This record gives sequence, structure tokens and C-alpha cells, in this order.
Amino acid sequence: MTVGDVTTEGPQTVPGRSAGAAVEKYLHVRRLTDLLASRLSAEDQVPQSMTAASPAAWHRAHTTWFFEEFVLGRLPGYSSPEPVFRFLFNSYYEAVGPRQPRPQRGLITRPSVAEIGDFRARVDDAVVAALEAGRVDDRGLELLELGRHHEQQHQELMLMDAKHLFSHNPTDPVYVHRSADPVAAAPGETDWLVVVEGVAQVGALDPADGFSYDNERPRHRVWIPDGQVATRQVTVADWKEFMADGGYARPELWLSDGWAAVQDEGWDAPGYWRREDGVGVSASAGTAGAPAADGEWTTFTLSGRRPVVDAEPVCHVSFYEADAYARWAGARLPTEFEWEVATAGWEIRDELDPDRCHPQPATDRTIGGVWEWTASAYLPYPGFVTEEGAAGEYNGKFMSDQHVLRGGSALTPAGHTRPTYRNFFPASSRWAATGLRLAR
Ligand SMILES: [Fe+2]
Repeated sequence: MTVGDVTTEGPQTVPGRSAGAAVEKYLHVRRLTDLLASRLSAEDQVPQSMTAASPAAWHRAHTTWFFEEFVLGRLPGYSSPEPVFRFLFNSYYEAVGPRQPRPQRGLITRPSVAEIGDFRARVDDAVVAALEAGRVDDRGLELLELGRHHEQQHQELMLMDAKHLFSHNPTDPVYVHRSADPVAAAPGETDWLVVVEGVAQVGALDPADGFSYDNERPRHRVWIPDGQVATRQVTVADWKEFMADGGYARPELWLSDGWAAVQDEGWDAPGYWRREDGVGVSASAGTAGAPAADGEWTTFTLSGRRPVVDAEPVCHVSFYEADAYARWAGARLPTEFEWEVATAGWEIRDELDPDRCHPQPATDRTIGGVWEWTASAYLPYPGFVTEEGAAGEYNGKFMSDQHVLRGGSALTPAGHTRPTYRNFFPASSRWAATGLRLAR
């Protein structure tokens, strides 16, 4: 799907072709989840590797619950045959009711993974039947659309969480087999795009002009100062220079909370990186080409452990690390509005390829591959209005102590990336595919 193709389901009823289009868009998203989950065994789908992560089976059930709660639940006379799923698979919706504590999602061994598959099929059948019968009202269609975008977000989370889980297994499991990339030269010095000061329009237009989350609206004016934004993302080669210059050992480069995180977490490299010492190198290390040599950095990928690749955008860095790197480089992070203005018209590339699940080498004047930390706190836009009803809890209640990321990653489903999209994570978070570009 692309931006702008998502609001054609029509009013009150969806007979004929528009019902077919809504059904196809719905099933398209659902099938991708099934494909991504099909590479995970039942055993892979149950554990929860940390509180912030969720089991794959839970993602599959929760996205299904969302459609049952918000779309099927609106149908006159509908009641779930499995009301306990409302407790087990509600994530954070206070208006819906009590729920399984987040840190205990990995303890849900019943229903089984197979029964969660049955739940998905039952809800799919009911949603399709309701669409084809024209029983989904206008608000239901909006929530169906929200549910599709919600499931895409969980597709990325499912991959992030599977990677985090697998990274704790000393056998370095392979989620997707992938052959070695051709050797790509690391890009040279970045170019800088000059941003001329002035008033800019940022944010998404009304949903009637294409899907957006409530946190992207309303479109509004901001003042952009004179500045420059790097035309490519910071690469692995760039990051190695930062590390070689003692970047992780120089407190003057770091925010106070960032330096505390370095100490507490023992950070000396991006997430999933490991310096090989010739001991305990996994079976999958080196499968991208030459084996990892002593002293060489490897990183855990969804295709096992591999040597880091200089030309790729650096990935799995926290906001704190991105900020410290920018200070070391004599630059800064762009604000989310500078980012939106500077990248206008750039190609969106390197979204999810299910046969790759890993960033491509960085390229000039493109977005994608890794989410990009911005200097901006995650706050409401002037005039922000939450979604109506329980869906109003989707975004707005998380607008404290988080930073905005822009763009999209190699784990973001195709069509989900857009110029006004606002992702957000806490400053210390680095299990998402997060990188950066500089501004000055
Ligand atoms: Fe969710």
C-alpha cells in the first residue's frame, strides 16, 4: 500500500468492489504477519526476552485482539467466544479493562501457538464476512485501517523482539538465511543539504488525504533556522572512528544520563556488536564472507552473527550514543522538523525485505534502513486531538520522556514509512533498528 490509497472504503456500507479492496488490504497485512511468524518455531514464539519485548505469539494474538475489540466489537450483537483473550492480549488500553502484566507476557503458554493461529483465522473470517456484508460502519472502517497500520508496527516489533531473543542464544540462531552481500566501499565524506531559514509546514494533512496517526497531526507551521543536514546516515565506518577516538570513554561527550548508561550497561559499541577474541565465535560468524578475525567486530543479525559492514548505516544505537557521536563530530542531531523539511522528496528505500531483514549500505539522499534519532522530544503538535474512544490511548499517552525518530528501517513493512511519521522510544533504548544522521 502507499500513502493516499487508504481511505477509499466509503461510507456506511462497502458493497462490491470497495468491499473487495478493503478485504484485500486487510488480508495483505495479515498474510505478512503469518509469513514472518512461519520462520519461528512454537518454542521460539513463547519466551519474552525482556519487559520491553513481547513473545511472537503474543504479537500475533494482540494484533488479532485489536481487530476483534475495535472492529468486530462494534458490530451489533457481537460477543467474543473467548472473552479471556481480552485480558491476555490487551496491551495498554485502560478503557478496555485489566490485562496481563506486561512483564509476564512470556508466561502465557495457553492458549497454545496453534490455538492463537485458530484465533487469527476466526477473526479473519469474521472481519471479511462483515466487510462483504457491508456491516462495518464508517468508524469501524477507520478503526480497521488503524488496525492494519497497528499490525504493521507489530510486524517490526516481532522482528526486533525475535532478534533480541535469539541474541541471547549462544548458538546464534538464524531467522532468515541470506547469502553474503557484495563488498561495498564505505561512502566518503557526507554532503550537507543547506536548509534556509523560514516558516515551514510540517505534519500530516487530514486523514481524508491519506492515513496518518493522530500524533502526526495537525499540520502546522514551524520556524526552521538556517542549518545543514547530512545527506547520508552515519555509517559503521564513521562509528568505528568514534570508537577509536575513545568515544565511549570520554565523559565530556555525553549527556549525564547517557554517561550513566555507558557505565551501568558497560556500553563500548552499538547493540549486538562483539569484538571477536578467537574464543566462542559462533557457527554463523563470518557467513557473510571472510570469517571474523581476532579483534574484529561482529554484530548479531537476523541471519546470525556476521562481521560488521563499514558501508551500512550504524544500527542499534541509543539516543544517548547518537547525541554523543554528534558532539564528537562537531555537529548535532537534526530536530524532527529540520529532518522533515530536509528530506522532503527523498526516495524512501530499504523497507522490509522478508528475505533480508537487515539494512542495505547507506546511500545519499534516501531515507530507510535505520530509524533516525532526532533532537526532538516526543510532544503533541499544537492542536493535537487524540483518536476518539479507547483508540485515543494509541499514541498520546506516551508523550513524556521519549524522543522522536524519523524515517523507517529495514524491518519496517513496505508502505509504512512516510515523511511525517513519528516513531518514539526512550533515550536509552537500542533494540530497535536505530541510527542517525547529523545536522549542524
Ligand atoms: Fe499494539
